[in-house]
Amino acid sequence: MSSKNCLIVLFGGQSAEHYVSCVSARHVIEAANPELYDVIPVGIDRNGDWHLAEKAIEDLGTGDLGNALEPAGPMWNPMTELGNTSAQKTVVFPLLHGPLGEDGTIQGLLEVMDVPYIGSGVLGSALAMDKIATKEILTHHKIPQASYRSVDSKLFEHLNTDGLNSLFSELFEELGSTIFVKPANLGSSVGVSKAYDHESLHKALEMAFSYDEWAVVEEAIEGREIELSVLGDLVPQVSTPGEIRPMGDFYDYAEKYQNDSAELIVDPDIEAEIVSDLQQLSASAFLALRCSGMARVDFFLHSERGPILNEVNTIPGFTPISMYPRLWEQVGLSYSALVDRLVDIALERHSRKRRNTAI
Ligand SMILES: Nc1ncnc2c1ncn2[C@@H]1O[C@H](COP(=O)(O)OP(=O)(O)O)[C@@H](O)[C@H]1O
Ligand SMILES: [Mg+2]
Repeated sequence: MSSKNCLIVLFGGQSAEHYVSCVSARHVIEAANPELYDVIPVGIDRNGDWHLAEKAIEDLGTGDLGNALEPAGPMWNPMTELGNTSAQKTVVFPLLHGPLGEDGTIQGLLEVMDVPYIGSGVLGSALAMDKIATKEILTHHKIPQASYRSVDSKLFEHLNTDGLNSLFSELFEELGSTIFVKPANLGSSVGVSKAYDHESLHKALEMAFSYDEWAVVEEAIEGREIELSVLGDLVPQVSTPGEIRPMGDFYDYAEKYQNDSAELIVDPDIEAEIVSDLQQLSASAFLALRCSGMARVDFFLHSERGPILNEVNTIPGFTPISMYPRLWEQVGLSYSALVDRLVDIALERHSRKRRNTAI
């Protein structure tokens, strides 16, 4: 019997962030210590089928992204494979971004199969994924955030021209002359846009509604974009901050993944007192949103209002240049040691939960 743990890395998925997930998975698989883990790459293709993806990962390893982005390989049935846990301990690392991966759905499947997994559980994943639910929880906990309104596509679709114009006027009046529009449940800036007038707001909402039934509309914040990494469970550790300096209008999909133009600065120049506020707010948001294992907490730092929380990502990017692992490296936790910590936290939480349910 092997004393190694079995680490199933789940990647790909059906969301608009499929590509990003494949890139993160490649790096986690490369970095996982082969003396500690038998790594099993499992890719979910864009149709939602699961595959044993050893070949896809080999292709990714050679840098041949063109061939490897569709995780092909023999079909892998989670119900039979996960139900058949051997003498080896099995931990699943869901490296899936966006809906059907980061939103509690896969986590629910893993709960039902009683398999330990890295990251937040069903509730934490769902709350943090939904920008409206996140904002409502942050309001309750008095964590500073941008002013916002949620808009329901079902209501929007029934408005006539007058109704639309009065909604748009109301939103600009309430939120200012420039506003951000986002689908409630997505990430990587997909479907996010800025609006300045009725026409651009109409377009922005239609775009957001092509991804989700709900949209968030919020005031534009002029501030630095600051991110912190959180690691742990009941008593989370928080890293030093990092800063994103987008080159363009805002930190959009192209800047995140296509042209690599945004600057990522680890430990930027921020007053010690503000760093401490950012760290406290990150831990409070992590706990308020019932997160576990890991999260990247993103803020705007406004020159007068101070930190304004933007969002919490429960499955942050995991490429070596991604902010989440880089911030831990800065404090001496290497990428592969970070994977070990996440596995330990997952096992610990799983055994704690079992103890609690057994009472
Ligand atoms: N209220 C806002 N004010 C200013 N910039 C914003 C605002 N909301 C979003 N942005 C810009 O858009 C980017 C993506 O928005 P975000 O809410 O982080 O969505 P996602 O979940 O897709 O990453 C942010 O990193 C930031 O550059
Ligand atoms: Mg973001």
